Amino acid sequence: ARNALVLGIESSCDETAVALYHTTDGLLGEALHSQIDLHAAYGGVVPELASRDHVRRLPGLLAELSHKTGRTLADVDAVAYTAGPGLVGALLAGASLAAGLAQGADLPLIPVHHMEGHLLAPVLSEPELDFPFVALLVSGGHTMLVACHALGRYELLGQSLDDAAGEAFDKTAQLLGLDYPGGPALAHLAAQGTPGRFTLPRPLTRQRGLDFSFSGLKTAVANQLAKVSDVQDHPDLAADFELAVVETLSTKCRWALEATGMSRLLIAGGVAANTRLRAALQTLCEAQGAHFFVPSAALCTDNASMIAHVGALRLADAQRSGAPVRARWPLSE
Ligand code: KG4
Ligand code: ZN
Repeated sequence: ARNALVLGIESSCDETAVALYHTTDGLLGEALHSQIDLHAAYGGVVPELASRDHVRRLPGLLAELSHKTGRTLADVDAVAYTAGPGLVGALLAGASLAAGLAQGADLPLIPVHHMEGHLLAPVLSEPELDFPFVALLVSGGHTMLVACHALGRYELLGQSLDDAAGEAFDKTAQLLGLDYPGGPALAHLAAQGTPGRFTLPRPLTRQRGLDFSFSGLKTAVANQLAKVSDVQDHPDLAADFELAVVETLSTKCRWALEATGMSRLLIAGGVAANTRLRAALQTLCEAQGAHFFVPSAALCTDNASMIAHVGALRLADAQRSGAPVRARWPLSE
């Protein structure tokens, strides 16, 4: 459908967000609330608290979005919501609102795959990005390499067998006594150190596989920490950890580009905000003659713009009733 205004709702984890995307005019605006402060004291996302806060925040965010964009619910032509993967209770908060709005105004309802949202988010800031491309999705919940052939045609090349890259950052940061979410804090600490002192593994890089494993790396840091008790060693250790993650991700991206013969690489997800990772992949792409795409930081982390955007692309998949959610949902079925 042309000229449709799509409302997107995101509530899969600890960000509550709503956004409006127009099929021809593009993104109109977004209202977002991060629950980071709510969960900080617990060192991680508490599912029950997350669900309750989504329910509490969504109405206010809708009002804020309306205020920002000058559009009201009466202008909306379809409602897209994150249907999974994610925390079930959190997902249900957004899904219930979506279903209520759609049913009340007799609008089509579009369940969106959260990871497809991440995959296509860069298109919002880099319109020249075209299929096919290799995507590295690195967030607190996921680490995946995906060959994106066309809209809806995604081939999973590899994924983490244990901790996600962001999770490894967060857990390692916790070992170093840094606050949640530890990724940015650890990167900040690493910038004050020099890598090269500590020998840390580059997990699963001995053979050309595209799966990842980061839990051993975290354990290796814990072992090194047990030997160095001085806080002054922490920046160097953080730097070596960051370098190990960056080099591992970079190696796998090179293999993925070589295996698929594709010449575009895209990164998304919260860890894509990491400066060292961006620089390493930029260098890799220059060496491989590939184009490198990184969305703006706001589009890297969880948001509703990416959900409204995929909703607009997938208007044809709209449903008329029900609002299913799925805690687990493979990207390619
Ligand atoms: O995509 P995201 O906002 O939320 C989901 O997990 O879906 O990603 C958050 C993750 C956290 O693990 C956080 O520590 C990590 O991204 N992160 C970073 C950086 N900024 C955020 N990790 C490393 N370096 C960063 N600069
Ligand atoms: Zn996400």
